[in-house]
Amino acid sequence: MIQKPKGCNDIYGREAKIWKYVESMIDATMEKYNYTYIRTPIFESTELFHRGIGESTDIVTKETYDFVDRGGRNMTLRPEGTAGVCRSYVENKMYGDPNQPVKVYYNGTMYRYERPQSGRDRELTQFGVEVLGSDDPMSDAEVISLAVNIYKMLGLKEIKVNINTLGDKESREMYRKALIDYFKPHINELCEDCQTRFEKNPLRILDCKVDADNELLKNAPKTIDYLNVASRERFEKVKDYLDILQIKYEVNPNIVRGLDYYNHTVFEIEAKVEGFGSNNVLGAGGRYNHLCSEIGGPETPCIGFASGIGRLVMALELEKVELPIVEDIDLFLMYVNEDEKKYATYLAQELRMAGFIVDTEYTGRALKGQFKQADRLNAKYIAILNSEDLDNNEIKIKNNKTKEEEIISLDVLIYYLDEKLNTGVEDIDEECSCGEDCGDDCHCRHHDN
Ligand code: HAM
Repeated sequence: MIQKPKGCNDIYGREAKIWKYVESMIDATMEKYNYTYIRTPIFESTELFHRGIGESTDIVTKETYDFVDRGGRNMTLRPEGTAGVCRSYVENKMYGDPNQPVKVYYNGTMYRYERPQSGRDRELTQFGVEVLGSDDPMSDAEVISLAVNIYKMLGLKEIKVNINTLGDKESREMYRKALIDYFKPHINELCEDCQTRFEKNPLRILDCKVDADNELLKNAPKTIDYLNVASRERFEKVKDYLDILQIKYEVNPNIVRGLDYYNHTVFEIEAKVEGFGSNNVLGAGGRYNHLCSEIGGPETPCIGFASGIGRLVMALELEKVELPIVEDIDLFLMYVNEDEKKYATYLAQELRMAGFIVDTEYTGRALKGQFKQADRLNAKYIAILNSEDLDNNEIKIKNNKTKEEEIISLDVLIYYLDEKLNTGVEDIDEECSCGEDCGDDCHCRHHDN
């Protein structure tokens, strides 16, 4: 049997319904904050990620899915969405639009060759936002609050926001020097990768997975102690705006993030749910004011975040949040002979177009089997089509809960179901789907005669 690739998932059935609901809530919230949807390619030139995310990051050195296309070009499946969005902003000269900042959101699959474990996949789906063209600390706070509000709206109760700042270029340079001075006498105590990181980018030593418990790393200098005045003041403003938005946060000086493009604000958001695991950050992001210029565009201040939908769904399930997922159908249409089947085919379409959730029989089951199938589908009502009733312009309807049966006129079927199910179907279209003006009584069956 051919199996799915390691670290990938098939999402189907009830779980797929949860995903769709979560995604619909994300779409609705993004609309409220006036973020517009952006779709960028799933693969981009390898160079984009090397320049954007950073040559010395774990993502670029160990985790990308790289390939050479048939034209000999080096391509990479996107490991995250930010670099592609910046490429699009620059390539499409969105910076020239007076309507700044450009506020976009995305939702799509990313690929990272990681060691698969709970909450850590090789194919992951992330939703995220990017605000391109604003340096206002208020936008940092808004992005954090947007993430928190989505999690809360979906029903997660305890959300923990950890924030930190890496400061501006000058502060980062001071910090880099402090790290070099600190690690230099201990270089031999570090793992092989970290010894290379020391040469290339000492900040990356801090997100080493091998040395994570090494006291040396824990006691390393903190970014927050190397900020210049402007960076410190900026961070204070971000915190002020978070207070205004009533977003609770903790300053965690250990957050440096695993991608090179960040400066100033960085943050990680955790869900405090039993069983979720402390390593499973729900969403994360930060400010990246130099990424656009790094990839050939103008210097553009930006901020954003991304969140794994798989992890979010896992947190919702662990917290046993009841989501309004439709797990039943309004009506199951049953039939026995070919004429009844033809009418069921027609009627199913009419009722679906009127707004009802309708299913019917597709595998030739006898009536007994069809009753069982209606139960499996949690049908609220069953319509038992019978040639004799149909000839009299009637249909037998059964309430599948109370088991009460009624024979009603086909002319009032839509109104009957609407009343019983209270679906509030909008203005029922009197016009027949046959496309001909054949009057109120038409159930198209008349045309067959
Ligand atoms: P990231 O921290 O690499 O940041 O990923 C953001 C989120 O994606 C994580 O918090 C997690 O929920 C999810 N995630 C990451 N890796 C995996 C995985 N292997 N399996 C499942 N979920 C995962 C970024 O990607 C940045 N682009 C965020 C950003 C946007 N910064 C600025 N703008």
